[in-house]
Amino acid sequence: MPSLNLVPASTGDYRRLAEKRLPRNLFDYLDGGAYGETTLEANVEDFENIQMKQRVMHDVSKIDTHINMFGNDMAMPLGLAPIGLAGMMARRAEVQAVKAAEKAGIPYCLSTVSICSLEEVAKAATKPFWFQLYMMRDRAYVKGLLERAKSVGCQTLVFTVDLAVVGARYRDVRNGMIGGLSPFGKLRAGLEYPTHPKWAFDVGVKGKPHVFGNLADFVPSAKSIIDFKAWVDAQFDPSCTWKDIEWLRSIWDGNLIIKGILSVEDAKAAVAAGADGIVVSNHGGRQLDSVSSSINMTPRIRDAVGDKTIIIMDGGVRSGQDIVKALANGAQSVLIGRPWIWALAARGQAGLDALLRTFKSEMNVSMALTGAPKIADITSKILDTD
Ligand SMILES: Cc1cc2nc3c(=O)[nH]c(=O)nc-3n(C[C@H](O)[C@H](O)[C@H](O)COP(=O)(O)O)c2cc1C
Repeated sequence: MPSLNLVPASTGDYRRLAEKRLPRNLFDYLDGGAYGETTLEANVEDFENIQMKQRVMHDVSKIDTHINMFGNDMAMPLGLAPIGLAGMMARRAEVQAVKAAEKAGIPYCLSTVSICSLEEVAKAATKPFWFQLYMMRDRAYVKGLLERAKSVGCQTLVFTVDLAVVGARYRDVRNGMIGGLSPFGKLRAGLEYPTHPKWAFDVGVKGKPHVFGNLADFVPSAKSIIDFKAWVDAQFDPSCTWKDIEWLRSIWDGNLIIKGILSVEDAKAAVAAGADGIVVSNHGGRQLDSVSSSINMTPRIRDAVGDKTIIIMDGGVRSGQDIVKALANGAQSVLIGRPWIWALAARGQAGLDALLRTFKSEMNVSMALTGAPKIADITSKILDTD
């Protein structure tokens, strides 16, 4: 429906604004998925195809969206997923994100390959945030990173396991982010910066330094983001197996969440390896294309691992309604990736604050109108499966 479009109301509105604000190559890096992007689309569409059951005449005068995870209260079952290079989309994005997450009472997870370092984010934070780790070939680097994470107060480690090799994102190839550009291509790509002056000033100038904050000491030879990315891509360790979790456990005594589980077999293996929780995820459709959507796998994984293991899911969550649908399908909580960056890129922290308020109010309404005022009431019974 046509409207004045003066105030962003939904995740889609922030996406549209981010598309205008960001240079095309950065927007595509954020927005895109692997290969034909079928899994990326399925992540969203499979949520859209779930129907809730409208229920009336229940006392829904008090709605409670709080949950407790690892002994910490969360205002709603939602966290901000780790996003590499976030600080290229909004000024010191990781710092803005941790502040917005704290304000909303939810966890923020800092990526290994963030622009802001663990220490910079910790300076802005007043509570422990989560840290995400990729297993690198250089184990001394991994150990050093975990020591840093611990020393700034991180208690929860999210270990991402679905990037043994990197899936090709064709938008990045087309934009020359991968594989490079001809001299004409470089000229054409360079024009993106003057034609996006708000981003160029806010992030390009005021958002410096543009380095991988957590890696600067490990890769002193890197002169640009491209150098850092090349180092990281060459460092992902494809030989990593469940045995490495033992080693990880020996150097990390905090909570351990394994992210990137998309099969019953791997979910069981993660639990057997000692994970406190898992994230059912296909990396936002950015790795193997044509795999199942995350929401499609969530109930099967819940059935397989039972109630003792914390199950978080991500991929395609675009609203508070989706959070309720995820919980009804067996998740305890969800993460959002692209939506939080779209909001920050579009409107800074105020945008992300507003988006998180929207998610909360959408959850409230969904819980009220499905007759499920408490989190424990959100079961498969609130779904219309007939
Ligand atoms: C631009 C971008 C960068 C990402 N970087 C990381 C990362 O550094 N570490 C990680 O574990 N996952 C990373 N992910 C995956 C997200 O954590 C999350 O699984 C995914 O975005 C969820 O899907 P959604 O974007 O549909 O919410 C990234 C995703 C995107 C879109």
